[in-house]
Amino acid sequence: MRAWVLTRHGDSPDTFELRSLPTPKPGPGQVRVKVLRFGLNFADVMAMLGLYRDCPPLPAVLGYDVAGVIDELGPDVDDWKLGDRVFGLSRFGGYAEYAITEAGAITKLPDSLTLEVGVALATQGVTAQYMANYIQPLRQGEHVLIHAAAGGVGTLMVQVALHAGCIIYGTAGSPEKIKYLRKMGVHYPINYREEDFFQVISQDGDLQPLDAVFDPIGGKSVKLGMKLLKPGGRMVTFGGSSFIGKGNIVTKMANFLASGFYHPLVLTGGSRSVIGVNMLRLADHKPEVLGQLMAQTAELASRKVFRPEIFSVVPANQFKESLAMLQNRATIGKLVVSWES
Ligand SMILES: NC(=O)c1ccc[n+]([C@@H]2O[C@H](COP(=O)([O-])OP(=O)(O)OC[C@H]3O[C@@H](n4cnc5c(N)ncnc54)[C@H](OP(=O)(O)O)[C@@H]3O)[C@@H](O)[C@H]2O)c1
Repeated sequence: MRAWVLTRHGDSPDTFELRSLPTPKPGPGQVRVKVLRFGLNFADVMAMLGLYRDCPPLPAVLGYDVAGVIDELGPDVDDWKLGDRVFGLSRFGGYAEYAITEAGAITKLPDSLTLEVGVALATQGVTAQYMANYIQPLRQGEHVLIHAAAGGVGTLMVQVALHAGCIIYGTAGSPEKIKYLRKMGVHYPINYREEDFFQVISQDGDLQPLDAVFDPIGGKSVKLGMKLLKPGGRMVTFGGSSFIGKGNIVTKMANFLASGFYHPLVLTGGSRSVIGVNMLRLADHKPEVLGQLMAQTAELASRKVFRPEIFSVVPANQFKESLAMLQNRATIGKLVVSWES
C-alpha cells in the first residue's frame, strides 16, 4: 500500500516521502479501514517539527483521522461487517491507503454525511464536542473566547457555542479569517495581528467578562486569558502552537513560564478552573468516552449543528502542498486528502 511517511524532523513537508509499505493486518479488537479520505491536523505539523511528544519513532506514518470502508476484521470483532462506511480515529497510521483502528474508535458514517465531513468530525469534532459539551457544557448567554477560531477545531467550537447561545469572541490571524468568522456569526472577531485581544475584551468596562477560554496557543495567551475569567470561569488549554519558532531552550522556557502558575488555593479563592485536554490520553484511558463523543458528533452533524468547513480535498500527490498551507496558517477549517484520483 502507499503511505506518506515522516522520515525525519524538519521545518518543511519535504521531510515526508511517499513509500510503499506492507498492508497491515488487524489484531484482536481491531479493524482495517480502506482509507478513502484522511485528514490533516495541526498536531502533524508539530510532529514534523519535532515538537510533539506523542509522535512515534521515525520513520512513522502519522495521521489521526480517516474515513472509508471496513475491509478486514480482527479475530474477535463481530460488531462490524465488511463494507461498512465509517469514520474514526486511527491514532497514527492514517496517512495510508489502509489503516488499523480499534473497533471502538470508529463510528458508522451516516449516509447523509460525506467522507470529508467524517474526517473533520473524527479528531477536531470530537475535541470540540469534548470541550464544549462534556467536561463542562457551554450554557446559554456565556461569554466565551475561542482562539484560532477559523481553524479546524476553532470553526467547530464556534458552531457549537453559537448553538448553545453563547456570546463569542474569536481570534484569528488574517483579514480573510476575520471575514469568515463574522459570516459565521462570531460576535467579536479579533485579528490578533492588528489588535490585542486582552485590550479589546477588557475595554468594555467589565474587567473579567469571560466564562470560558479555549486556548490552543499556550504561553502568555493563557496568562492573559486567565485574567479575563470571571468567578466560575474556566480556562481550557489544548495546545501549544506558540512554541513554534521558539528556537532555543531559553526562549522555550520563557514561553513555558509565561503561561503562569495557578495554585489550587488561588483558583479556589477566585472560583476559576484550568482544564487541560489531550484527546490521545483520553483515548488511552477512556476509549468508551471517545466512542460516545464520535457518535454524538455524527448526530450533531446530521442535525447541522456541526457543519465542518472543508478547506480543500486534494489528491494524495498534493499532500505536501496541503500540509505546508496548514503550517503557514493559510487555511480555514479542515484539510482533507483523498487516495481516489
Ligand atoms: N489537545 C488535543 O487533544 C487537541 C486535539 C485537536 C487539536 N488540538 C490543537 O488544537 C489546535 C487547532 O488544531 P487544528 O488541527 O484544528 O489546526 P487549525 O486550527 O486548523 O490550524 C492551526 C491554526 O493555529 C493558528 N496558529 C497559531 N499559532 C500558530 C503558529 N505558530 N504556526 C501556525 N499556526 C498557528 C493559525 O491560525 P491563525 O492564523 O488564526 O493564527 C493556524 O491556522 C492546535 O494547536 C492543535 O494542536 C489539540
